Amino acid sequence: MDKIRITGGQRLNGAIPISGAKNAALPLMIASLLTDETLTLTNVPRLSDVTALSRILSNHGVDRTVAGKRIGQSAETGQNISLTARQIVDTCAPYELVSTMRASFWVIAPILARMGEAKVSLPGGCAIGTRPVDLLLMALEKLGAEIVIENGYALARAPKGLKGGEIVFPKVTVGGTHTALMAAVLAQGTTVIENAAREPEVTDLAACLVKMGAKIEGAGTSRIVVTGVSRLGGAHHAVLPDRIETGTYAMAVAMTGGDVMLEGARADLLQSALDVLTRAGVEINETNEGIRVRRNGHGIDAVDIDTDPFPGFPTDLQAQFMALMTKARGTSRIRETIFENRFMHVQELARLGAKIRLDGDVAHVEGVAKLTGAPVMATDLRASVSLVIGGLAAEGDTTINRVYHLDRGFEALESKLTRCGAVVERISS
Ligand code: EPZ
Repeated sequence: MDKIRITGGQRLNGAIPISGAKNAALPLMIASLLTDETLTLTNVPRLSDVTALSRILSNHGVDRTVAGKRIGQSAETGQNISLTARQIVDTCAPYELVSTMRASFWVIAPILARMGEAKVSLPGGCAIGTRPVDLLLMALEKLGAEIVIENGYALARAPKGLKGGEIVFPKVTVGGTHTALMAAVLAQGTTVIENAAREPEVTDLAACLVKMGAKIEGAGTSRIVVTGVSRLGGAHHAVLPDRIETGTYAMAVAMTGGDVMLEGARADLLQSALDVLTRAGVEINETNEGIRVRRNGHGIDAVDIDTDPFPGFPTDLQAQFMALMTKARGTSRIRETIFENRFMHVQELARLGAKIRLDGDVAHVEGVAKLTGAPVMATDLRASVSLVIGGLAAEGDTTINRVYHLDRGFEALESKLTRCGAVVERISS
């Protein structure tokens, strides 16, 4: 397994191109199952999760063409992927494939909508919490699906097709909203989704579905109305910029000091996180090129946050923000409200010298004057990158094990940081 070694203490200066969003690319790729025509996605990040999902889609009969890298294009340039599900050859998503990536459970909606049946392995738990799929199944049932759970699989049937209905989510769920949308677009009649997730990735999926011929109103608000159509066609769609990657690099600059242009980033996708950084003393400016992040070296102030569904502070930036707060002036209180077990990075940040006390869903982070490098390891993607941020500011070397977590969600991480002056090296085993 590869490792990453970071020699801390360098400021970051320069430009970092922001990739297409992983969490938008995945549902968009899954939407290709809704049509027998070709869906072409541009700005798709080169990530192992994208490769894994491509494999899962192939199993259902989706043909894939990836436009080759052109001369002069770097590994940081997103790829163009064309997906064609002329025929769905298999309505079953087996355990071996779904267990590698939770989001692949979402294939249940388009396969059921198009084929009248789907058998998809339940995804199981993961490092950040139990993450059930009850609300996704509830949404499909509201559209007339009959669902049984058998031998670890959800078997969904709608022999006469899905019918529009009212789906009221008792809590905001991104995957639930993606599932409801992909099922409702081909259902007969009108579907109303209440308490829908407002995350930009949901809006991006809806925009793509509309290009494919779907009728959707209210995406980006908590009430979405879908009028079903009998078929969808192909489309071209560019994946929106990754707000979590944007926030991660913004926090890295805040941590080390420096001046970096996050090229192609959009402030409206992460305003709450940018506001928090501003309160901590970071200078943030949105320009035509992207978001410029500067920190003058006068230290960072402690700020309290609660994670929340969009437009609140994203849970996917909580670990990175905690890393930043380890060197803040004062004590920061960080409350995680989305996932019950998303503090796996705390013990590892402590290995770098951070002072963090956990109290249920709250972490109290007391800023320290310095961090020192250490070997560390993380159990999920965002936790891993929080250790990168810690390592960039720590004295000496930090070695991060289990780099495959980073490869799932951060395109060309080492080269993006290295070109801004960081000392980061991948050690292949
Ligand atoms: C998406 O996960 C993201 N994944 C996550 O990013 C992100 O952390 C999360 O949304 C919240 O923003 C992708 O987009 C691929 P949820 P998702 O359904 O859809 C509970 C990353 O690092 N819930 O919005 O699975 C659930 O347990 C990943 O990129 C139920 O109770 O999250 C959680 O507490 C990690 N029953 C809350 O809702 C259900 O049926 C929100 O989860 C579904 C969810």
